[in-house]
Amino acid sequence: MHPRIKINIVIFCLAVTTVPIPACSSRKPVGKDLETRKGEVEMSIEKKPFGALPDGTAVEIYTLENSNGLEAKIMTYGATLVSMKTPDRNGVLDDIVLGRDTIADYIEASPYFGAIVGRCANRIAHGRFLLDGEAYTLAANDGEHHLHGGVKGFDKVVWHAEALRHDGAVRFTYLSRDGEEGYPGNLSVTVTYALTEENELKIFYKAETDKATPVNLTHHSYFNLAGQGSGDILGHELFLNAEFFTPVDAGLIPTGEIEAVTGTPWDFTIPHSIGREITRVEGGYDHNFILNKAADELSHAAAVYDPGSGRAMDIYTTEPGIQFYSGNFLDGSITGKRGKVYRKHFGFCLETQHFPDSPNHPDFPSVILRPGNKLSSLTIHKFSVR
Ligand code: GLA
Repeated sequence: MHPRIKINIVIFCLAVTTVPIPACSSRKPVGKDLETRKGEVEMSIEKKPFGALPDGTAVEIYTLENSNGLEAKIMTYGATLVSMKTPDRNGVLDDIVLGRDTIADYIEASPYFGAIVGRCANRIAHGRFLLDGEAYTLAANDGEHHLHGGVKGFDKVVWHAEALRHDGAVRFTYLSRDGEEGYPGNLSVTVTYALTEENELKIFYKAETDKATPVNLTHHSYFNLAGQGSGDILGHELFLNAEFFTPVDAGLIPTGEIEAVTGTPWDFTIPHSIGREITRVEGGYDHNFILNKAADELSHAAAVYDPGSGRAMDIYTTEPGIQFYSGNFLDGSITGKRGKVYRKHFGFCLETQHFPDSPNHPDFPSVILRPGNKLSSLTIHKFSVR
């Protein structure tokens, strides 16, 4: 048994200002990394064992807790957010992300619950793309297509972790080797989760490569603001700061069109329930929305509100797109945390990212990272009640 390590630390919270990001590479850096701004706040970070992989590799879980009682648990397998506790309007804490109880459960079945997804989130058509005149073939793990980084994406590897005592954060690092899942170049990735006194979960992404490669990282939590496993999310009200989206074909690959949401079931520019028009969307929502913003600017992307519990979540990001997925493939076959069965639409994902299949769409914002350039990206989940 590892001793429970509880560290009371003094942190300086991280900046959340919506300043435009300075341009200095093809994937532009997001300001300074863990920028200090606020006064001294007490936060505890605890690290515990969370079992092991079948080959014996140890998995650890870190707990971040702020003075308002919000608590995020993140494990080293997949740099996965395992639980996120926030209060409802009566101050009652509940876990609002889907997940599984043990590492063995996660390995047995997890449709990316809470994981960091990479090297490229979402689909790449036929697992093929051309880069600088060279053809690359990636692992096909979604029929003929490549999905969420392949057979063993970033969600299925154990990351190295380090508690950042002065930032109330945990930094995860992973080196994705040249050729992994078919991708070129050694890619070194850093994902830092921070829980602030402003009730935000911040996710910073950084990456560098030694060969040109596509990179499109995201975080894949399934949220249910009424509490994980408590029912479907069709009554949650959603706002998306997006006037356009990228329609998909039957294989969920973007057709390349950019379509206005006006007059379609994809129009969430005025908040309304997720369920209101979902039956008009074949299969349910699983689409990339193009955010109204300047490139690389940190801006408001989405807001979700659960009228029952009063919980609300706002999402801010530097990414150009957000994949709204309404948990269509959940079918009751997975029993999640605390014995809860996850049925269709029991969770929603809002995955901030570049557009799916970007390597095959030269007119989409580029996901190509080149040696010497640094990828830098930030997404903030801000929790509140109404
Ligand atoms: C993403 C995809 C979906 C599905 C889920 C995981 O949101 O867009 O099609 O693959 O992840 O099941």
